[in-house]
Amino acid sequence: MNRDNFGSKLGILAAAAGSAIGLGNIWKFPYITGQNGGAAFILVYLFCIALIGLPVMIAEFSLGRNTQTNAMGSFKKIANGSKWSCSGYLAVATAFIILSFYAIIAGWVFAYIARAFSGKLIGVAPADLAGYFGGIISSPVEPVFWTFAVLAVTAFMVLSGVKNGIEKYSKILMPVLLMILIGLVFRSVTLPGASKGLEFLFKPDFSKLTTKGVLEALGHAFYSLSLGMGIILTYGSYIGKKENLLKLAVQVTIADTAIALMAGMVIFPAVFAYGFKPDQGAALIFMTLPAVFGEMPFGGFFEAMFFLLIGIAAMTSTISLIEVVVAFVTEEFKMERKKATVAIAAAAFALSVPSTLSFGVWSEVKILGKTFFDMFDFIASNIFLPIGGILVCLFVGWVWKAGSSSKEVESEGLYVFKAKGAYEFAIKYIAPTAIALILFNSTGLISR
Ligand code: PHE
Repeated sequence: MNRDNFGSKLGILAAAAGSAIGLGNIWKFPYITGQNGGAAFILVYLFCIALIGLPVMIAEFSLGRNTQTNAMGSFKKIANGSKWSCSGYLAVATAFIILSFYAIIAGWVFAYIARAFSGKLIGVAPADLAGYFGGIISSPVEPVFWTFAVLAVTAFMVLSGVKNGIEKYSKILMPVLLMILIGLVFRSVTLPGASKGLEFLFKPDFSKLTTKGVLEALGHAFYSLSLGMGIILTYGSYIGKKENLLKLAVQVTIADTAIALMAGMVIFPAVFAYGFKPDQGAALIFMTLPAVFGEMPFGGFFEAMFFLLIGIAAMTSTISLIEVVVAFVTEEFKMERKKATVAIAAAAFALSVPSTLSFGVWSEVKILGKTFFDMFDFIASNIFLPIGGILVCLFVGWVWKAGSSSKEVESEGLYVFKAKGAYEFAIKYIAPTAIALILFNSTGLISR
Protein backbone atom coordinates (compact mmCIF):
# COMPACT_ATOMS: atom_id res chain seq x y z
CA MET A 1 0.00 0.00 0.00
CA ASN A 2 1.27 3.44 -0.87
CA ARG A 3 1.56 5.70 2.11
CA ASP A 4 -0.12 9.06 2.01
CA ASN A 5 2.37 11.97 1.92
CA PHE A 6 2.41 15.71 2.25
CA GLY A 7 2.07 17.34 -1.16
CA SER A 8 4.01 20.58 -0.81
CA LYS A 9 6.69 22.36 1.21
CA LEU A 10 4.22 24.92 2.40
CA GLY A 11 1.83 22.19 3.42
CA ILE A 12 4.47 20.46 5.52
CA LEU A 13 5.41 23.70 7.20
CA ALA A 14 1.79 24.67 7.83
CA ALA A 15 1.00 21.28 9.36
CA ALA A 16 4.11 21.02 11.52
CA ALA A 17 3.99 24.65 12.63
CA GLY A 18 0.25 24.18 13.15
CA SER A 19 0.95 21.38 15.57
CA ALA A 20 3.58 23.35 17.43
CA ILE A 21 1.53 26.51 17.59
CA GLY A 22 -1.24 25.84 20.04
CA LEU A 23 -2.66 26.70 23.42
CA GLY A 24 0.92 26.51 24.66
CA ASN A 25 1.90 29.56 22.62
CA ILE A 26 -1.12 31.74 23.06
CA TRP A 27 -2.33 30.72 26.48
CA LYS A 28 0.52 29.26 28.48
CA PHE A 29 3.61 31.05 27.18
CA PRO A 30 2.29 34.55 27.95
CA TYR A 31 1.17 33.62 31.42
CA ILE A 32 4.32 31.83 32.50
CA THR A 33 6.29 34.74 31.07
CA GLY A 34 4.12 37.00 33.20
CA GLN A 35 4.82 34.97 36.31
CA ASN A 36 8.57 34.73 35.74
CA GLY A 37 9.45 38.34 35.18
CA GLY A 38 9.05 38.86 31.45
CA ALA A 39 12.03 39.33 29.16
CA ALA A 40 14.61 37.49 31.27
CA PHE A 41 12.43 34.41 31.08
CA ILE A 42 12.07 34.83 27.34
CA LEU A 43 15.84 34.89 26.88
CA VAL A 44 16.20 31.65 28.78
CA TYR A 45 13.36 30.17 26.75
CA LEU A 46 15.06 31.08 23.47
CA PHE A 47 18.23 29.45 24.68
CA CYS A 48 16.33 26.24 25.54
CA ILE A 49 14.62 26.22 22.16
CA ALA A 50 17.93 26.42 20.34
CA LEU A 51 19.82 24.02 22.54
CA ILE A 52 17.22 21.30 23.09
CA GLY A 53 14.11 21.95 21.04
CA LEU A 54 15.80 22.18 17.66
CA PRO A 55 18.00 19.05 17.99
CA VAL A 56 15.09 16.91 19.22
CA MET A 57 12.94 18.15 16.40
CA ILE A 58 15.61 17.22 13.85
CA ALA A 59 15.91 13.81 15.52
CA GLU A 60 12.18 13.13 15.28
CA PHE A 61 11.83 14.35 11.71
CA SER A 62 14.78 12.27 10.55
CA LEU A 63 13.66 9.12 12.36
CA GLY A 64 10.17 9.39 10.90
CA ARG A 65 11.32 10.03 7.36
CA ASN A 66 13.88 7.27 7.49
CA THR A 67 11.46 4.60 8.67
CA GLN A 68 8.39 5.82 6.78
CA THR A 69 6.06 4.48 9.39
CA ASN A 70 4.11 5.40 12.55
CA ALA A 71 5.65 6.30 15.90
CA MET A 72 5.64 2.77 17.26
CA GLY A 73 6.65 1.19 13.96
CA SER A 74 9.70 3.46 13.75
CA PHE A 75 11.24 2.14 16.92
CA LYS A 76 10.32 -1.41 16.08
CA LYS A 77 11.78 -1.22 12.60
CA ILE A 78 15.15 0.17 13.63
CA ALA A 79 15.58 -1.88 16.79
CA ASN A 80 14.29 -5.07 15.19
CA GLY A 81 11.27 -5.50 17.37
CA SER A 82 13.19 -5.20 20.63
CA LYS A 83 12.04 -3.56 23.86
CA TRP A 84 12.48 -0.21 22.19
CA SER A 85 9.00 -0.59 20.69
CA CYS A 86 7.80 0.33 24.17
CA SER A 87 8.99 3.91 23.57
CA GLY A 88 6.74 3.95 20.56
CA TYR A 89 3.77 2.65 22.53
CA LEU A 90 4.50 5.27 25.15
CA ALA A 91 4.45 8.04 22.54
CA VAL A 92 1.11 6.87 21.17
CA ALA A 93 -0.37 6.61 24.67
CA THR A 94 0.88 10.08 25.56
CA ALA A 95 -0.62 11.61 22.43
CA PHE A 96 -3.94 9.91 23.12
CA ILE A 97 -4.16 11.03 26.75
CA ILE A 98 -3.10 14.57 25.93
CA LEU A 99 -5.72 14.67 23.17
CA SER A 100 -8.40 13.78 25.72
CA PHE A 101 -7.73 16.78 27.94
CA TYR A 102 -6.37 19.24 25.40
CA ALA A 103 -9.78 18.92 23.76
CA ILE A 104 -11.41 20.06 26.99
CA ILE A 105 -9.48 23.31 27.13
CA ALA A 106 -10.08 23.79 23.42
CA GLY A 107 -13.76 23.22 24.29
CA TRP A 108 -13.69 26.10 26.78
CA VAL A 109 -12.26 28.21 24.00
CA PHE A 110 -15.13 27.12 21.71
CA ALA A 111 -17.60 28.11 24.44
CA TYR A 112 -15.96 31.53 24.61
CA ILE A 113 -15.98 31.86 20.82
CA ALA A 114 -19.72 31.22 20.75
CA ARG A 115 -20.30 33.82 23.46
CA ALA A 116 -17.89 36.33 21.97
CA PHE A 117 -19.51 36.15 18.54
CA SER A 118 -23.01 36.49 19.94
CA GLY A 119 -21.83 39.53 21.90
CA LYS A 120 -22.66 38.02 25.28
CA LEU A 121 -19.13 37.91 26.63
CA ILE A 122 -18.40 41.60 26.21
CA GLY A 123 -21.32 42.52 28.46
CA VAL A 124 -20.00 40.64 31.49
CA ALA A 125 -18.77 42.97 34.24
CA PRO A 126 -15.09 42.43 35.17
CA ALA A 127 -16.00 41.50 38.73
CA ASP A 128 -18.29 38.75 37.45
CA LEU A 129 -15.83 37.15 35.03
CA ALA A 130 -14.34 34.67 37.46
CA GLY A 131 -17.80 33.38 38.33
CA TYR A 132 -18.77 33.40 34.66
CA PHE A 133 -15.82 31.25 33.65
CA GLY A 134 -16.29 29.00 36.67
CA GLY A 135 -19.94 28.58 35.74
CA ILE A 136 -19.08 27.44 32.23
CA ILE A 137 -16.41 24.91 33.11
CA SER A 138 -18.25 23.42 36.08
CA SER A 139 -21.46 22.72 34.19
CA PRO A 140 -22.03 19.00 33.67
CA VAL A 141 -23.39 19.53 30.15
CA GLU A 142 -21.88 22.42 28.25
CA PRO A 143 -18.16 21.56 28.42
CA VAL A 144 -18.96 17.94 27.57
CA PHE A 145 -20.77 19.17 24.50
CA TRP A 146 -17.90 21.45 23.42
CA THR A 147 -15.29 18.76 23.99
CA PHE A 148 -17.34 16.53 21.75
CA ALA A 149 -17.50 19.30 19.15
CA VAL A 150 -13.72 19.76 19.25
CA LEU A 151 -13.10 16.05 18.77
CA ALA A 152 -15.71 15.81 16.02
CA VAL A 153 -14.12 18.67 14.06
CA THR A 154 -10.67 17.16 14.66
CA ALA A 155 -11.79 13.78 13.36
CA PHE A 156 -13.44 15.40 10.37
CA MET A 157 -10.24 17.17 9.36
CA VAL A 158 -8.01 14.09 9.49
CA LEU A 159 -10.57 11.70 8.03
CA SER A 160 -9.50 12.28 4.46
CA GLY A 161 -5.83 11.65 5.05
CA VAL A 162 -2.61 13.57 5.18
CA LYS A 163 -2.65 15.51 1.94
CA ASN A 164 -6.40 15.91 1.58
CA GLY A 165 -7.06 16.37 5.29
CA ILE A 166 -4.32 17.59 7.57
CA GLU A 167 -2.41 19.49 4.91
CA LYS A 168 -5.47 20.97 3.28
CA TYR A 169 -6.91 22.39 6.50
CA SER A 170 -3.56 23.53 7.87
CA LYS A 171 -2.94 25.50 4.69
CA ILE A 172 -6.21 27.34 5.22
CA LEU A 173 -6.11 27.75 8.98
CA MET A 174 -2.52 28.86 9.51
CA PRO A 175 -2.64 31.92 7.24
CA VAL A 176 -5.94 32.93 8.85
CA LEU A 177 -4.30 32.57 12.25
CA LEU A 178 -1.38 34.72 11.19
CA MET A 179 -3.62 37.44 9.79
CA ILE A 180 -5.75 37.64 12.91
CA LEU A 181 -2.66 37.68 15.07
CA ILE A 182 -1.02 40.51 13.12
CA GLY A 183 -4.23 42.52 13.33
CA LEU A 184 -4.43 42.01 17.07
CA VAL A 185 -0.77 42.88 17.64
CA PHE A 186 -1.34 46.10 15.75
CA ARG A 187 -4.41 46.92 17.84
CA SER A 188 -2.68 46.18 21.10
CA VAL A 189 0.62 47.99 20.58
CA THR A 190 -1.13 51.15 19.39
CA LEU A 191 -3.19 51.50 22.56
CA PRO A 192 -2.20 54.48 24.70
CA GLY A 193 0.00 53.15 27.49
CA ALA A 194 0.98 50.02 25.55
CA SER A 195 4.70 50.69 25.93
CA LYS A 196 4.71 49.44 29.51
CA GLY A 197 3.58 46.05 28.27
CA LEU A 198 6.27 45.96 25.61
CA GLU A 199 8.84 46.91 28.19
CA PHE A 200 7.64 44.11 30.42
CA LEU A 201 7.96 41.69 27.56
CA PHE A 202 11.29 42.82 26.17
CA LYS A 203 13.29 44.39 29.01
CA PRO A 204 14.93 41.63 31.04
CA ASP A 205 14.73 41.65 34.83
CA PHE A 206 17.03 38.85 35.90
CA SER A 207 16.22 39.31 39.56
CA LYS A 208 12.82 37.69 38.95
CA LEU A 209 14.32 34.61 37.39
CA THR A 210 14.45 31.51 39.59
CA THR A 211 15.79 27.99 39.06
CA LYS A 212 12.19 26.89 38.88
CA GLY A 213 11.61 29.45 36.15
CA VAL A 214 14.53 28.14 34.12
CA LEU A 215 13.22 24.59 34.38
CA GLU A 216 9.78 25.78 33.41
CA ALA A 217 11.25 27.44 30.32
CA LEU A 218 12.99 24.21 29.47
CA GLY A 219 9.84 22.13 29.85
CA HIS A 220 7.77 24.59 27.90
CA ALA A 221 10.27 24.72 25.02
CA PHE A 222 9.82 21.00 24.70
CA TYR A 223 6.04 21.02 24.96
CA SER A 224 5.57 24.00 22.71
CA LEU A 225 7.38 22.31 19.85
CA SER A 226 5.14 19.21 20.20
CA LEU A 227 8.12 16.97 20.94
CA GLY A 228 8.37 13.68 22.78
CA MET A 229 5.08 12.11 21.76
CA GLY A 230 5.69 11.01 18.22
CA ILE A 231 3.97 13.92 16.48
CA ILE A 232 6.97 15.32 14.66
CA LEU A 233 8.11 11.76 14.05
CA THR A 234 4.79 10.82 12.46
CA TYR A 235 4.73 13.98 10.34
CA GLY A 236 8.33 13.25 9.37
CA SER A 237 7.20 9.92 7.96
CA TYR A 238 5.01 11.78 5.44
CA ILE A 239 7.88 13.91 4.15
CA GLY A 240 9.65 13.12 0.90
CA LYS A 241 13.39 12.56 0.52
CA LYS A 242 13.83 15.79 -1.41
CA GLU A 243 12.86 17.99 1.51
CA ASN A 244 15.46 19.74 3.62
CA LEU A 245 14.71 18.58 7.14
CA LEU A 246 17.15 20.96 8.80
CA LYS A 247 15.63 23.97 7.14
CA LEU A 248 12.14 22.73 7.99
CA ALA A 249 12.99 22.22 11.66
CA VAL A 250 14.51 25.69 11.85
CA GLN A 251 11.45 27.20 10.19
CA VAL A 252 9.01 25.44 12.51
CA THR A 253 11.03 26.48 15.54
CA ILE A 254 11.19 30.10 14.44
CA ALA A 255 7.49 30.19 13.57
CA ASP A 256 6.53 28.70 16.91
CA THR A 257 8.65 31.15 18.84
CA ALA A 258 7.59 34.15 16.77
CA ILE A 259 3.92 33.34 17.31
CA ALA A 260 4.41 32.95 21.06
CA LEU A 261 6.12 36.34 21.19
CA MET A 262 3.40 37.91 19.09
CA ALA A 263 0.78 36.47 21.43
CA GLY A 264 2.66 38.19 24.24
CA MET A 265 2.58 41.40 22.20
CA VAL A 266 -1.19 41.13 21.95
CA ILE A 267 -1.76 40.38 25.59
CA PHE A 268 0.66 42.46 27.66
CA PRO A 269 0.37 45.88 26.02
CA ALA A 270 -3.41 45.66 26.41
CA VAL A 271 -3.22 44.32 29.96
CA PHE A 272 -0.90 47.16 31.02
CA ALA A 273 -2.73 49.82 29.03
CA TYR A 274 -5.89 49.21 31.05
CA GLY A 275 -4.17 48.68 34.37
CA PHE A 276 -4.66 44.93 34.80
CA LYS A 277 -2.16 42.55 36.33
CA PRO A 278 0.07 40.39 34.11
CA ASP A 279 0.62 37.52 36.53
CA GLN A 280 -2.81 35.96 36.82
CA GLY A 281 -1.69 32.55 35.64
CA ALA A 282 -4.12 30.30 33.84
CA ALA A 283 -6.91 32.84 34.42
CA LEU A 284 -5.17 35.35 32.17
CA ILE A 285 -7.03 34.62 28.96
CA PHE A 286 -10.37 33.49 30.35
CA MET A 287 -10.82 36.10 33.08
CA THR A 288 -8.38 38.98 32.67
CA LEU A 289 -8.55 39.41 28.91
CA PRO A 290 -12.33 39.65 28.58
CA ALA A 291 -12.13 42.50 31.12
CA VAL A 292 -9.39 44.11 29.04
CA PHE A 293 -11.50 43.84 25.88
CA GLY A 294 -14.41 45.31 27.80
CA GLU A 295 -12.43 48.56 28.17
CA MET A 296 -11.32 48.73 24.55
CA PRO A 297 -13.21 50.55 21.79
CA PHE A 298 -14.83 47.88 19.56
CA GLY A 299 -13.64 45.41 22.18
CA GLY A 300 -16.34 42.90 21.25
CA PHE A 301 -14.92 42.52 17.76
CA PHE A 302 -11.34 42.11 18.92
CA GLU A 303 -12.47 39.70 21.59
CA ALA A 304 -14.21 37.48 19.05
CA MET A 305 -11.10 37.55 16.85
CA PHE A 306 -8.85 36.70 19.77
CA PHE A 307 -10.81 33.64 20.80
CA LEU A 308 -11.15 32.53 17.21
CA LEU A 309 -7.36 32.75 16.98
CA ILE A 310 -6.93 30.49 19.98
CA GLY A 311 -9.54 28.10 18.66
CA ILE A 312 -7.69 27.74 15.36
CA ALA A 313 -4.35 27.27 17.10
CA ALA A 314 -5.85 24.54 19.24
CA MET A 315 -7.44 22.69 16.31
CA THR A 316 -4.23 22.41 14.30
CA SER A 317 -2.69 20.87 17.41
CA THR A 318 -5.48 18.39 18.09
CA ILE A 319 -5.26 17.11 14.52
CA SER A 320 -1.58 16.35 15.02
CA LEU A 321 -2.31 14.54 18.28
CA ILE A 322 -4.99 12.34 16.76
CA GLU A 323 -2.83 11.62 13.71
CA VAL A 324 -0.19 9.91 15.88
CA VAL A 325 -2.83 7.45 17.05
CA VAL A 326 -4.53 7.14 13.66
CA ALA A 327 -1.23 6.32 11.93
CA PHE A 328 -0.48 3.75 14.60
CA VAL A 329 -3.87 2.03 14.45
CA THR A 330 -4.18 2.02 10.66
CA GLU A 331 -0.68 0.64 10.13
CA GLU A 332 -0.32 -1.76 13.02
CA PHE A 333 -3.86 -3.14 13.01
CA LYS A 334 -4.60 -2.61 9.32
CA MET A 335 -7.74 -0.74 10.17
CA GLU A 336 -9.27 1.49 7.56
CA ARG A 337 -8.46 5.18 8.12
CA LYS A 338 -11.97 6.55 8.42
CA LYS A 339 -13.05 3.85 10.84
CA ALA A 340 -9.90 4.24 12.91
CA THR A 341 -10.31 8.00 13.10
CA VAL A 342 -13.88 7.86 14.30
CA ALA A 343 -13.11 5.10 16.81
CA ILE A 344 -10.13 7.00 18.25
CA ALA A 345 -12.04 10.26 18.53
CA ALA A 346 -14.87 8.41 20.29
CA ALA A 347 -12.44 6.75 22.69
CA ALA A 348 -10.74 10.09 23.42
CA PHE A 349 -14.16 11.58 24.10
CA ALA A 350 -15.00 8.77 26.52
CA LEU A 351 -11.74 9.36 28.35
CA SER A 352 -12.34 13.10 28.44
CA VAL A 353 -15.70 12.94 30.18
CA PRO A 354 -14.42 12.22 33.70
CA SER A 355 -11.81 14.95 33.25
CA THR A 356 -14.44 17.45 32.13
CA LEU A 357 -16.66 16.62 35.07
CA SER A 358 -13.75 17.06 37.45
CA PHE A 359 -14.23 20.83 37.16
CA GLY A 360 -17.77 20.50 38.49
CA VAL A 361 -19.81 17.62 39.79
CA TRP A 362 -16.82 15.31 40.19
CA SER A 363 -14.43 17.86 41.66
CA GLU A 364 -14.33 15.86 44.87
CA VAL A 365 -13.50 12.57 43.18
CA LYS A 366 -9.76 12.23 43.66
CA ILE A 367 -7.16 9.64 42.81
CA LEU A 368 -3.91 10.05 44.73
CA GLY A 369 -5.07 13.50 45.73
CA LYS A 370 -5.73 14.65 42.17
CA THR A 371 -8.90 15.17 40.15
CA PHE A 372 -9.24 13.20 36.91
CA PHE A 373 -8.12 16.16 34.83
CA ASP A 374 -5.11 16.89 37.01
CA MET A 375 -4.18 13.24 37.13
CA PHE A 376 -4.27 12.73 33.35
CA ASP A 377 -2.45 16.01 32.84
CA PHE A 378 0.17 15.04 35.39
CA ILE A 379 0.76 11.55 34.02
CA ALA A 380 0.93 12.59 30.39
CA SER A 381 2.63 16.00 30.58
CA ASN A 382 4.87 15.55 33.60
CA ILE A 383 5.83 11.90 33.40
CA PHE A 384 5.18 10.28 30.00
CA LEU A 385 6.17 13.27 27.88
CA PRO A 386 9.65 13.84 29.37
CA ILE A 387 10.32 10.10 29.51
CA GLY A 388 9.28 9.83 25.86
CA GLY A 389 11.62 12.71 25.07
CA ILE A 390 14.58 11.14 26.82
CA LEU A 391 13.94 7.83 25.08
CA VAL A 392 13.76 9.46 21.66
CA CYS A 393 17.12 11.18 22.25
CA LEU A 394 18.79 8.02 23.51
CA PHE A 395 17.30 5.97 20.72
CA VAL A 396 18.32 8.32 17.94
CA GLY A 397 21.65 9.21 19.54
CA TRP A 398 22.84 5.76 20.58
CA VAL A 399 20.75 2.96 19.10
CA TRP A 400 20.01 4.19 15.61
CA LYS A 401 23.15 6.40 16.00
CA ALA A 402 23.33 10.15 15.71
CA GLY A 403 25.37 9.74 12.53
CA SER A 404 22.54 7.86 10.78
CA SER A 405 20.19 10.65 11.72
CA SER A 406 22.55 13.28 10.25
CA LYS A 407 22.80 11.18 7.11
CA GLU A 408 19.03 11.16 6.80
CA VAL A 409 19.06 14.95 7.11
CA GLU A 410 21.64 15.11 4.35
CA SER A 411 19.35 12.99 2.20
CA GLU A 412 22.02 11.08 0.29
CA GLY A 413 24.23 14.09 -0.21
CA LEU A 414 21.46 16.36 -1.43
CA TYR A 415 22.10 18.73 1.45
CA VAL A 416 25.13 19.66 3.49
CA PHE A 417 24.49 19.45 7.22
CA LYS A 418 27.18 21.83 8.44
CA ALA A 419 26.42 21.75 12.13
CA LYS A 420 26.11 18.00 12.36
CA GLY A 421 28.85 17.70 14.97
CA ALA A 422 26.98 20.06 17.26
CA TYR A 423 23.70 18.32 16.52
CA GLU A 424 25.07 14.87 17.29
CA PHE A 425 26.59 16.08 20.54
CA ALA A 426 23.34 17.77 21.53
CA ILE A 427 21.17 14.75 20.83
CA LYS A 428 23.48 12.29 22.57
CA TYR A 429 24.36 14.28 25.67
CA ILE A 430 22.79 17.69 26.16
CA ALA A 431 19.17 17.03 25.26
CA PRO A 432 18.66 13.83 27.28
CA THR A 433 20.31 15.42 30.32
CA ALA A 434 18.22 18.56 30.04
CA ILE A 435 15.02 16.58 29.59
CA ALA A 436 15.91 14.50 32.65
CA LEU A 437 16.01 17.79 34.56
CA ILE A 438 12.55 18.62 33.17
CA LEU A 439 11.36 15.25 34.45
CA PHE A 440 12.84 15.77 37.92
CA ASN A 441 11.29 19.19 38.07
CA SER A 442 7.85 18.20 36.83
CA THR A 443 7.57 15.19 39.10
CA GLY A 444 8.64 17.19 42.13
CA LEU A 445 12.05 15.55 42.56
CA ILE A 446 13.56 19.01 42.34
CA SER A 447 11.56 21.05 44.77
CA ARG A 448 13.11 24.48 44.54
N1 PHE B 1 2.66 22.38 20.90
C1 PHE B 1 1.35 22.62 21.37
C2 PHE B 1 1.18 23.94 22.00
O1 PHE B 1 2.08 24.71 22.07
C3 PHE B 1 0.95 21.68 22.41
C4 PHE B 1 0.86 20.36 21.95
C5 PHE B 1 1.57 19.45 22.57
C6 PHE B 1 0.06 20.07 20.91
C7 PHE B 1 1.50 18.23 22.15
C8 PHE B 1 0.00 18.85 20.49
C9 PHE B 1 0.73 17.93 21.11
O2 PHE B 1 0.11 24.22 22.45
